[in-house]
Amino acid sequence: MKILVTGAAGFIGSNFVYLMLEQHPDYEIVGLDLLTYAGNLETLEEAMKNPKFKFTKGDIADRDYIFNLFKEEKFDIVVNFAAESHVDRSIEDPGIFLRTNILGTQVLMDACREYGIKRYHQVSTDEVYGDLPLDRPDLFFTEETPIHTSSPYSASKAAADLLVLAYHRTFGLPVSITRCSNNYGPYHFPEKLIPLIISRALADESLPVYGTGENVRDWLYVKDHCIAIDKVIHDGKVGEVYNVGGHNERTNLEVVKTILHELGKPESLITYVGDRKGHDMRYAIDPTKISNELGWLPTVKFDDGIKMTIKWYLDNQDWWKNIISGDYKNYYEKMYSNR
Ligand code: NAD
Ligand code: TYD
Repeated sequence: MKILVTGAAGFIGSNFVYLMLEQHPDYEIVGLDLLTYAGNLETLEEAMKNPKFKFTKGDIADRDYIFNLFKEEKFDIVVNFAAESHVDRSIEDPGIFLRTNILGTQVLMDACREYGIKRYHQVSTDEVYGDLPLDRPDLFFTEETPIHTSSPYSASKAAADLLVLAYHRTFGLPVSITRCSNNYGPYHFPEKLIPLIISRALADESLPVYGTGENVRDWLYVKDHCIAIDKVIHDGKVGEVYNVGGHNERTNLEVVKTILHELGKPESLITYVGDRKGHDMRYAIDPTKISNELGWLPTVKFDDGIKMTIKWYLDNQDWWKNIISGDYKNYYEKMYSNR
């Protein structure tokens, strides 16, 4: 079996590469990544030592490059993680989100049609469902919840999902989609809430909380997401969508306070800043389908996963300090200085 993993130098893609090398030592894995600001080859250093893994730098929206790669490699399965993934950046500059997330998906699926494939898997997000109100804790996203997006990021992911389902219906492409809730764990880029708070708290810097901090996210440890994708690409039904999440809802303020408590840092570091435009209130996944059909259940509870994650950031300071010492400084200044 030969698998193409796009976005392999990013947060979830790299964790997936490591899971596949561990779970399927006989598979050949090709990791593809454009190495944008979010991609980091250091993350794949260990994988590079494995003869079953190979890295290639390239753009999923570059048709000639992708078609040549497919012609040479003859993949059995494609798992598409490659994306622009940060909501705040999509508010500043939507164009690149449409190019990578929608057109890139199209190019990959066109190559699958041309060269044949057993499965094309699209890694999507619960953000395609929009948000839920805070005063209705009985409501959850199911696979039947209407698509109703809030940000240019989620709109681009929803557009890609619709295209994936259309390629299945029209061309018979064997596709599957997972829509997962917020992930956390090793190799998470420090522009996202949890690694941003850990890295800034360790430096005793102010911790920006948007609005009132009451927004709720449903947190899933990244390895559990990767295990779910592994199950879906092997045993999931073609043409189907599977929601992935584990009932680990927390308000942003609860997340920040938990991290401060674990690090022994004062809550006085918390600084309330202007809210995100169109900020989704609550995400919460109903994972009944994947649990009933494929026997997937999360293995890590938030209270344990956050401790494991903090330990990883303490043990791997070079990894994130390299990132926050470069262009990231300008990014932080631009996004947070006048908030
Ligand atoms: P990430 O930003 O950490 O990684 C994305 C990777 O894609 C980066 O390595 C980047 O260099 C690469 N990339 C960007 N544009 C590319 C292009 N044109 N061609 C090739 N590579 C390109 O994101 P992530 O958090 O690992 O998310 C991976 C996928 O999972 C995304 O599709 C995202 O929508 C989805 N997802 C993320 C979460 C989450 O909580 N992070 C939750 C659900 C779904
Ligand atoms: P984020 O990690 O960007 O993920 P997403 O927007 O995909 O859910 O943000 C998680 C939550 O944390 C979201 O409600 C926005 C909030 N947030 C802050 O309060 N401060 C920050 O500096 C960041 C990056 C996010």
